[in-house]
Amino acid sequence: FHVDTDASEAEKGAYPYYMLKEIDEQPGVMRNLIEHYIADDGSIKIDEKLLKGLNQAQRLYIVAAGTSYHAGLVGKELFERVTNTPTEVHVASEFAYNPPLLAERPFFIFLTQSGETADSRQVLSQVNEWGYPSLTITNVANSTLSREATYTLLLYAGPEIAVASTKAYTGQIALEAILAKAMGERKDIDKAKEFDVAKELTFVANGMQALVDGKAEIEEIAKDVLATTRNAFYIGRSIDYDIAQEAALKLKEVSYVQTEGFASGELKHGTIALIEKDTPVIAIITDEKTAKHTRSNTQEVLARGARVIYIASRQLAVAGDQIVLPEVHPLLTPLLAIIPCQLLAYYTSLQRGYDVDKPRNLAKSVTVE
Ligand code: AGP
Repeated sequence: FHVDTDASEAEKGAYPYYMLKEIDEQPGVMRNLIEHYIADDGSIKIDEKLLKGLNQAQRLYIVAAGTSYHAGLVGKELFERVTNTPTEVHVASEFAYNPPLLAERPFFIFLTQSGETADSRQVLSQVNEWGYPSLTITNVANSTLSREATYTLLLYAGPEIAVASTKAYTGQIALEAILAKAMGERKDIDKAKEFDVAKELTFVANGMQALVDGKAEIEEIAKDVLATTRNAFYIGRSIDYDIAQEAALKLKEVSYVQTEGFASGELKHGTIALIEKDTPVIAIITDEKTAKHTRSNTQEVLARGARVIYIASRQLAVAGDQIVLPEVHPLLTPLLAIIPCQLLAYYTSLQRGYDVDKPRNLAKSVTVE
């Protein structure tokens, strides 16, 4: 049994599938979040009690499933760098069995598009039993996780119908960035005060628009490299590894290509044995600290016959990189890097003749444990 928002065909408008419509809606989701949460003077409109509670926490625990878990991985980068608060990210179904030694004053953040995921609800019930404070970030007002948490913040992204989550992922990351900014400036942290999140998210929205406008090139790459492959790899380091994991899930769940999102520095410890002639390897390079190391890892897989596709930020791109991303704040590059990955998954699924919006054996909201 699952909650499946059975929206009318009409809402798809001119789009063949909801997934493409929702990918295209992402620039608007960014602008919507700026509108809802940031006043014209740059001040952030979030409940001061929530911000105080978050800032009193010694450790943040982000708990989520699937794509929302991947948004939590980026959230860790944001909270630790902008608010100096140690942050752990846990897959909901794993947390239930072995809760970590809880810090003196933990604060739990649940990321969930639907607000109904059973794995996450189970953890929230436990957290409520323990009596700890919690925040649910969700796209569905009055959902279970929204109602049962101490606090809730909405994504205002509009209904997400496609099983493969896209605009909710980028919406969650953008709202984590807004939240981190509000927390950090109240802790008088320079990194937070310098982080002009409204301006940076506006650049992100513009960058997203450029990328979705250039979707035809991505379709060509999907046809050329992914349409018939048995498997594929997304590789990256640090924040680019966070992106690689979400990119892999997208490709897996709508095109059924066995795809790994892998730490590129870890390939040499065994997994590189899987690289054969024409194995697609998509390298994500948006972090100047790790760019050259990831590029050297791509040389290793090229030597084994891989087909390498480079997704690189403009300032790190070199001649021959197939996908170049517009310039945005280093902590927000996942918001751009994921766009071509969402489109690669979409077009690969189309190429294979699948129902992109309703992949086999999957539900939009997994309300069973
Ligand atoms: C993402 O594309 C998948 N549909 C799935 O992994 C999803 O992210 C996961 O089930 C969590 O759902 P939630 O965000 O509604 O809690």
